[in-house]
Amino acid sequence: MINKLNELKSKAVESIEKAKTVEALEKIDNTLMGRKVGKLNDILKGIKDLSAKDKALVGKLANEVKTVISEKLEEKKKELNKKTLNDNLEKDFIDVTLPGKKIDQGSLNPISIVQYELEDIFKSMGFMVLDGPELESDYYNFEGLNIPEHHPARDMTDTFYIKSKVKGQKSKVENKQVLRTHTSPVQVRAMLKYGAPMRAVVPGRVFRNEAMDASHEHTFNQLEGLMIDKDISIANIIAVMNKLLTGIFKKDVKTRLRPGFFPFVEPGFELDINCLICGGKGCSVCKQTGWVELLPCGMVHPNVLKAGGINSDEYSGFAFGLGLTRLVMMKYGIDDIRHFASGDLRFLKQFS
Ligand code: PHE
Repeated sequence: MINKLNELKSKAVESIEKAKTVEALEKIDNTLMGRKVGKLNDILKGIKDLSAKDKALVGKLANEVKTVISEKLEEKKKELNKKTLNDNLEKDFIDVTLPGKKIDQGSLNPISIVQYELEDIFKSMGFMVLDGPELESDYYNFEGLNIPEHHPARDMTDTFYIKSKVKGQKSKVENKQVLRTHTSPVQVRAMLKYGAPMRAVVPGRVFRNEAMDASHEHTFNQLEGLMIDKDISIANIIAVMNKLLTGIFKKDVKTRLRPGFFPFVEPGFELDINCLICGGKGCSVCKQTGWVELLPCGMVHPNVLKAGGINSDEYSGFAFGLGLTRLVMMKYGIDDIRHFASGDLRFLKQFS
C-alpha cells in the first residue's frame, strides 16, 4: 500500500506538471481525489484490514500524499491562470505609439483643385456657378454665339460632330450635335434661364480636334465667365481679371491685353500672361514667345444678348473664357498638357 501511495504521488506530480489548461487540471483532480472514483480512495479502501500500527502509518502517508497533490494542483492552477491572463493581455495589447496603417486615399486632380479655388473667388463676387452639356447642339455652340454655319471662325475650333438627332429640336441646325468646343454655349443658355442682370461662371470640359503636343489636347478645361448688368464696361473686365489672377497666383503676374477676334464679343481681347514655366524666356509651352494666351475676353456681342432674350439697348455685359488647364499648368509649373489625362499616379500624387 505504501508503495502504491508513493507511486501515485510521483505519477500525480508528473501529470500535474504537464497539464496545459485549467480544465486538464480539474480532470486530474477528479480522477485522483474524487470521492467515488478517485484513485487515492481506491487505494485506501483496504486500510480497514490493516493492523492498528500499519493503519497509522498508511493513514499518515495518505494524508501527506493528499496534501502534496492538493498543493501541487493549487500551485499549477495559479500558474496557468496567470499565463492565460498574460496571454490575453498580450493579445489585446495596442501599442499606441506605433505609426497608424495608411489607408490609400485618392486625391483631387490639380484641375479640380484650381477650379474649386476659382469658384470660391467668383462666389465671393456674387457669381453663380453653372453647368452645361458637353454634348451640345450646333445652335448653342456656334449659331447662338454669332457664328453662322459657313463662318470661317468655325475653323478655329474644329471639333467632333455627332450625327444623331435630338428629340424635340425642330430646326435643322439644332439637330446637329457637337462635342462643345468651349464653355461659351452656356452663355446663351444662362441668359435664357436667368435673364439680366446676371453673374455666372461655368467650369467644364471642352473638346477640339487638335494635333496634340505639349500645349494642345483634344480634351481640356475652361472656365467661362459672364456678367450682365447696366453700364458694364471694359473697366469691369480688367478689375475682375486682376482679382482672378492675384487670387490664384497669390502674387502679381505680368499681363498684356491685345485685341482678339471672337464673333461673340465686340470688342474682343486676348489677355496673355508672362509664361511662368520659363519666366518669359521662351519654351515649348509658350511656343517660344514668353507669353501664354490665358484669358480671351470681351464685351458680349448684341447678337448674343439677343439670342439670350436680353435687350442690348438696356444691358451690356462682358464674357471671358479662361483656359483652366493652362492656368493650372502655369500655377504648378507643369510643362506638358498630356500629363493631365495620362492616368500616371506619379503625376497625380504630387497634388494630394
Ligand atoms: N470661347 C472662346 C474660346 O474658347 C473664349 C472666349 C470666351 C472669348 C468668352 C471671349 C469671350 O476660344
